[in-house]
Amino acid sequence: MLSNAEGLIKIINLETLEKEASDKIDRGAFGYVQGGAEDELTLRANIESFNKKQIIPNGLAGLDGADTKVTFLGAELASPIIIAPMAAHGLLHEVADKATITGAGKAGTMMGVSTYASVMLDQIAAASPNTPWFFQLYMSRDNGFNEHMISKAVKAGAKAIVLTIDAGVPGNRESDKKNNYNYSMATPNVAEYYEGKSITHSEARAMRKISFTAEDIQYIKSISQGLLVFVKGIQAPEAAEIAVQAGADGIWVSSHGGRQMDGSPSSFDMLPLIAKQVNKRVPIIFDSGIRRGSHVFKALASGADIIAVGRPVLYGLILGGSEGVKAVFDQLNYELHTTMILAGKKNIDEVKATKLFDVATQQIEK
Ligand SMILES: Cc1cc2nc3c(=O)[nH]c(=O)nc-3n(C[C@H](O)[C@H](O)[C@H](O)COP(=O)(O)O)c2cc1C
Repeated sequence: MLSNAEGLIKIINLETLEKEASDKIDRGAFGYVQGGAEDELTLRANIESFNKKQIIPNGLAGLDGADTKVTFLGAELASPIIIAPMAAHGLLHEVADKATITGAGKAGTMMGVSTYASVMLDQIAAASPNTPWFFQLYMSRDNGFNEHMISKAVKAGAKAIVLTIDAGVPGNRESDKKNNYNYSMATPNVAEYYEGKSITHSEARAMRKISFTAEDIQYIKSISQGLLVFVKGIQAPEAAEIAVQAGADGIWVSSHGGRQMDGSPSSFDMLPLIAKQVNKRVPIIFDSGIRRGSHVFKALASGADIIAVGRPVLYGLILGGSEGVKAVFDQLNYELHTTMILAGKKNIDEVKATKLFDVATQQIEK
C-alpha cells in the first residue's frame, strides 16, 4: 500500500500527524519508520528531554517581528530547520525522494539524501533543480564503492557529504520482528555500483564499515572533491573531538532518532556537552526528537546551528506528497516564529544566545 497523495494537508501538530499517517500505510512499513531500538527508551527520551529546559517569555523586548532565516552551505533558508537523510521514501510514496525534495524546495529548506535513497541521485536533483541537498554516505570497506558514491553525488550537485558513523550494524528494532517485516527496498544508487559484479545483496550489505576512525574521516575528506564533510551520529564529546581533529567540517549530533542504541542519553541532553567541547570550531547540526518549534528554539539555545527533522517529514510525505512535506516545515516554522516573538528574540543569532531555565536546578543557565 504505497501512498500517491499530493496536496494540501491540515496539521494540528506533528504528534497528531504521526497518528494520521499510520492509518494510511501498511503496518510493517509504518513500524519500520516510526519504531526505535529495543524498549524505545531513547526514542521517547529524545522528545521528552526537551521538557527539562524552559524558554522564559519576554514581552518587553520591543520587537516588531521575528526573522527565522539563516544561510547554510551558501543557500538562504527560510529557517535553520532542514531534512535529515532517510532511507525508505520509496516504501511510503510512489514519487519517493523526488516528492520530498520538491517539498523542500517549496518550503525553502534543504534535503539530506541517503545512500539508500529510492531514486537515482541525478533524478532527485532534477526533480527540484534549485533546491540544495547534501549526500549521506554509509561507508563501505570497499573504497571503490565510496569513491563511486561520492563522485555520483558531486556530479549530481550535492552541496556537502555527511558520513554517518552510528549505524555500523542496524539497531535491534522489535517492531520489525513483531510485524514480521523484512525491510527490503530498491536502492538504485547502490545497485548501480554492484551491477555486473558477482556479489549478492547481503554480501554487499556486509561490506559496510561497522566502526570508524579518524583516518576514515580524513579519507572521505580526501575524496570529497572539495565538498564539506560532516560527521553524523555523534553523541560523545570525545567523539566530537576526534572528528574535529580529523578535519570534519561539521559535527552532527544525533542518536539516529533512537533507532540504534537504546538506553543511550537523549541527543538534547548531550548537546550542551558536545557544544562545549567543539567550542564553535565547526558548526553543529542537531537531530533526534524534534517535534515542535520550541524544540528547535531550545536546541539552538543549547549549541546547535542547524536542526534536522526525520520521521515527521516522512509522515507529511505519506499524507500529502511534496505539499505534505512543505506543510511540516510551515508548521515548524510557524511554531518557531511564534516562540521567538513570545521570547522576545528577533533573529536566530539572538535565539542561539538565549539562556534557558533549567528545571532540575531551578536556575537560569549560566
Ligand atoms: C525511516 C528512517 C530511515 C533512516 N535512514 C537513515 C539513513 O539512511 N542514513 C542516516 O544517516 N540516517 C537515517 N535515519 C536517521 C535520520 O537521519 C535522523 O537521524 C533521525 O530520523 C532523527 O530523528 P527523528 O526522526 O526523531 O527526527 C533514518 C531515520 C528513519 C526514521
